[in-house]
Amino acid sequence: MKNVPQTVLVTGGAGFIGSAVCRHLVASGKYRVVNLDKLTYAGNLTSLRDLDGNPNYVFRKADICDTDKVRKILADEAVDLVMHLAAESHVDRSIDGPMAFVTTNVVGTASLLQAVLDHWRSLGEEARKRFRFHHVSTDEVFGDLPFDSGVFTEDSPYKPSSPYSASKAASDHFVRAWHETYGLPVVLSNCSNNYGPYHFPEKLIPLVIANALDEQPLPVYGKGANIRDWLFVEDHARALEAVMTGGRIGESYNIGGRAERTNLEVVEAICALLDARRPRNGGRSHLDLITYVTDRPGHDRRYAIDPTKSEQELGWTPLETFETGLARTVDWYLANGWWWRPIREQRFDGTRQGLVAAK
Ligand code: NAD
Ligand code: DAU
Repeated sequence: MKNVPQTVLVTGGAGFIGSAVCRHLVASGKYRVVNLDKLTYAGNLTSLRDLDGNPNYVFRKADICDTDKVRKILADEAVDLVMHLAAESHVDRSIDGPMAFVTTNVVGTASLLQAVLDHWRSLGEEARKRFRFHHVSTDEVFGDLPFDSGVFTEDSPYKPSSPYSASKAASDHFVRAWHETYGLPVVLSNCSNNYGPYHFPEKLIPLVIANALDEQPLPVYGKGANIRDWLFVEDHARALEAVMTGGRIGESYNIGGRAERTNLEVVEAICALLDARRPRNGGRSHLDLITYVTDRPGHDRRYAIDPTKSEQELGWTPLETFETGLARTVDWYLANGWWWRPIREQRFDGTRQGLVAAK
């Protein structure tokens, strides 16, 4: 039997959640982490500078669509476990350019599964038994809920609305198919909206913080009535370790923070935090920057996760409330302009139109 630390291949480890996972797994002292990432616009190795030189961390640049290269990395690094996060992740981008989502999220996941299946088959009996392929997915595969009722359970039907969520739904189905057909030991998780440090400033929370600090409009789609269920990213990273190590093979686990908020409530909470921490010149509230803009096509009304199975089977609960997590997030963006300012200056001007123009 191989001695700890076990080697975990994390795909998409240079992204928002992946970098939190790499930091969490290495800090635990239980794992050696191999971060496999293509470094798209969303990948950023500066998010991992705390791990530079750490003997339990290695970066390997690769595209999950490149089955041969991934197969070689799995063998060279003697990988024991795989956690798959690499994806195109932004719904607005999927509306403007869906094919990149099909390529990475669907074809990429199937290509990765082929490489992982070959690797798993090459292992000895004990290592094969301990091996897991953990697919990290989203609550968006379940579609949307009415404003006033219902929650997503692991048995909710798949009903994706956007090209992004359709591509993630397809990837979930491929992962289950590789389990049912080839016996690959897989486990899946479907999580609600994450927020926290190192979140790319095209997503609602970091976009609003950065725009507010730059005195730019805070774009709220429609009336701001859509509801998301928010989870602090470090709580998600802890949950993912629990699923990877304790989840039952072939099962999926819903992960969420029981923290439903309308988008307007989220934006107002950020404004209140910034009013207290970084008041504007002239004494006006950041609330004055709120600007209602054209709604996202196919905009899901509400997401709400029932995390009971994860709580009961895995013993996981979030450590942050939405209020404590949001305060930590705002403080992080106030203190870490070195990370997000270059992203905004080079690639993105802080509006939805700017996002489209910058691609
Ligand atoms: P992200 O966009 O911040 O990061 C994605 C990472 O994947 C980047 O580092 C990128 O370079 C890499 N990548 C993209 N295409 C690749 C390819 N072909 N090969 C190798 N690497 C590639 O995404 P995120 O928000 O950190 O999300 C990570 C995962 O978690 C995704 O699968 C997403 O669907 C899922 N998820 C996200 C949330 C959320 O709120 N952000 C919630 C639930 C689930
Ligand atoms: O639910 C999990 C999903 O959460 C993940 O699977 C996705 O990868 C992740 O991007 C996120 O998707 P959303 O579309 O919910 O996140 P986003 O931050 O883009 O938007 C959150 C809400 O805020 C959504 O209702 C749209 C709205 N919004 C977003 C932006 C960027 C605005 O009102 N204004 C904006 O400028």
